[in-house]
Amino acid sequence: MEPEQIFSRLAQLASQYRHEQSQGTYVAYLEPGELQQRLDLTREQAPGDWEELFHWVETYLRYAVKTGHPGYLNRMWAGANLPSIIGEMVSALTNTSACTFETAPVSTLMEKYMIKTMLNLVGFSQGVGQMTTGSSNANMIAMLAARNHHAQTVKQQGLFKQKELFAFVNEEAHYSLDRAANILGLGSDHLIKVPADAHGCMDIQALEDTLQRIVQAGGQPFFVTATAGSTVRGGFDRLQPLLQLRTRFPFWLHVDGAWGGPVIFSETLRTRYLPLLEQADSFTMDFHKMPGTALMCNVLLMRGNSSVLRGALSAGDESYIFREGSEGEVRDLGTLSLQCGRRVDSLKWFLDWKFYGQEGLARRVEGYLALCEYAEAQIKQQAELEMVAPRESFNVCFRHRAPQNMDPALLNTRIREKMQQQGRYLVGTGFVNGQLALRLLVTNTQVGKADIDEFLATVVRTGQEILAT
Ligand SMILES: Cc1ncc(COP(=O)(O)O)c(C=O)c1O
Repeated sequence: MEPEQIFSRLAQLASQYRHEQSQGTYVAYLEPGELQQRLDLTREQAPGDWEELFHWVETYLRYAVKTGHPGYLNRMWAGANLPSIIGEMVSALTNTSACTFETAPVSTLMEKYMIKTMLNLVGFSQGVGQMTTGSSNANMIAMLAARNHHAQTVKQQGLFKQKELFAFVNEEAHYSLDRAANILGLGSDHLIKVPADAHGCMDIQALEDTLQRIVQAGGQPFFVTATAGSTVRGGFDRLQPLLQLRTRFPFWLHVDGAWGGPVIFSETLRTRYLPLLEQADSFTMDFHKMPGTALMCNVLLMRGNSSVLRGALSAGDESYIFREGSEGEVRDLGTLSLQCGRRVDSLKWFLDWKFYGQEGLARRVEGYLALCEYAEAQIKQQAELEMVAPRESFNVCFRHRAPQNMDPALLNTRIREKMQQQGRYLVGTGFVNGQLALRLLVTNTQVGKADIDEFLATVVRTGQEILAT
């Protein structure tokens, strides 16, 4: 096959997939063993056979989960924006590393432009930023920068000769912070889980008491993460009392906005959920979640100049690769990164931003919130359903009621499985106050009120079918 034919075949497949992705079921569901058989991965192929190659592509698409389907309600992302898909394709076509200006000149300038735009939006007037591979890594890099800022000799001496360092998170914070504490050598005993209140926010009195106890015992609190939209419940930690505590215990205040961070696009939602964000020390947000940019697309922003990040990360002989910028300007973004090779994630980010603009993304986020409000109202009206916890923001945690002699967790797990196996809906679950909840998240612009109605009706119908057997 000639390259032109290959590209035209690919374009045809891509457009067919896009057209069909919201039709039929969200997946052709098969158990792993059966899927293994259907895929026939050991099938022999003559080298260089393009027909065979397209056979594999078609097979992949046939059994892949259609994440853009309205039945895919499982995760914090669904499908992807078309402009960012174009960006992904062009990045793959040009295949370079966004590590240095000389290999990725346009991408470097686009990333810098986007970071500056985000710093202005957040209000970090003097700031530095970096695209990372996701909020898990962004949380870790923020913890690393805070650790190195508070323990200036840690780079040379490790944690061996330091005061005992302690980090603090909401007990409902994302597990990436536990992993960060592990990777950075703090250990889980030094990551204090602060109890959450009835709204899923860190209990400030409990935090203050623990800070005091640790300081009195000779320890050093160095890092507090506020979660802006917790993974299961959607709680937003309140920044104002944390900022007040920071004046007494000079910790680094990081805001994990992986999920709820996009409220900053909307003035109304920012005022409601993230007032005073501009006074935090660092902030991360995933564009690959609510804003819909293709996976992965994350930004980590910090107050201060580039030495905050550069100082935390630089180590070893980098002279073979990086070139000095003029007058202290960062020329190569790899100097601020954990990685050497870096995917070009900036093009899709830039294209989405130019195509939708802050205004478009603000309306999108507001629209998702309105749909969550609608879903909560519908759940409260249906006798078979109940909220497991009041809705705090974008997460609707609910369940089908169970009869007295049945464990609600069992019933709801079976409802979820049945809908999944039928290829109808994939919905997430999580525990709130020890109770299993179905976690409805809306991150698909194709989902409207009628889809919410249909989903809730299917949960009820499936629950009734299970109870009748
Ligand atoms: C609150 C929160 N923080 C961090 C993460 C991790 O983000 P990523 O998947 O980009 O690593 C998640 C993912 O769900 C999250 O919900």
